[in-house]
Amino acid sequence: MVEARKLSRHTGAEILGVDLGQPLPPDVVAEIWKIFVEHTVIIFRGQELTQEQLVRATGQFGDCAEYTRPKEFQSETQRQLLPQIMLITNIREDGKPIGAHPDGEMWFHHDTIHREIPTKATLLYSLAVPTFGGNTAFANLFAAYDALPADLKKGLEGRTAFNSFNYGSNKKGDPNAVKAVSQSVHPAVRTHEDNGKRAIYVDRLMTQKLVEVPESESEAILSRVFDFIEREEFIYEHEWKKGDVVMWDNRSSIHARRDFPADQVRLMWRTTIAGDARPS
Ligand code: OGA
Ligand code: MN
Repeated sequence: MVEARKLSRHTGAEILGVDLGQPLPPDVVAEIWKIFVEHTVIIFRGQELTQEQLVRATGQFGDCAEYTRPKEFQSETQRQLLPQIMLITNIREDGKPIGAHPDGEMWFHHDTIHREIPTKATLLYSLAVPTFGGNTAFANLFAAYDALPADLKKGLEGRTAFNSFNYGSNKKGDPNAVKAVSQSVHPAVRTHEDNGKRAIYVDRLMTQKLVEVPESESEAILSRVFDFIEREEFIYEHEWKKGDVVMWDNRSSIHARRDFPADQVRLMWRTTIAGDARPS
């Protein structure tokens, strides 16, 4: 029996008494997965993991994917890590960030919604955190879909969205982005393959437009949807401590990062669980 504690009304559960450094029995993995799907985000506190242990822990829940940013846009430090691990840090060498998403606030998004087959889940493991700021906020998009006003539901249902991401962007039009871009078209509302529930599948950072309607109508619908799904009532905001592992479901949640002091180190390792089909 896995012990868990709800973290907010709709979003997040803390898993207690689990050491991710050790292999977990299959029934424990299945139970954790069930809690994960229901709450869209789970956290494990006080972990102490090597790269190998993080990759193995991830692999128990699915297929641990390799980091795909083109090599020419990776730092030497990044290239030295296991191929599944992505550095999320503001540490710089010779003035250049050694990891991805180095600085400050980052808008709400689904990881890899811009790909044809997006990742199911992301795990983030914290190795160093600033004394304040840098929280990650998560919103449950099953709950947001259920509560969405009827006219907005109608605006999204049966439509597809064009998503695109300029690697390195924290906001739309970020001047720090690199030249590589990734693009996709997916349903604006998707059905979760593990529980059959509907979840909104657009976000402020990566969704550019609804395909089937004129630009102005798309803009009017999406801006209201973005404001709605980012409401406080759907959110759990995680205050990081060193040793936290947070795992979130990219099929049913969005996340954003709050600002933090540029002169303090924030260092995380990130892994993902590969998806196995196009969202539908
Ligand atoms: C990510 C991400 C948020 C954070 O790695 O995909 O959104 O808090 N990170 O660093
Ligand atoms: Mn992200």
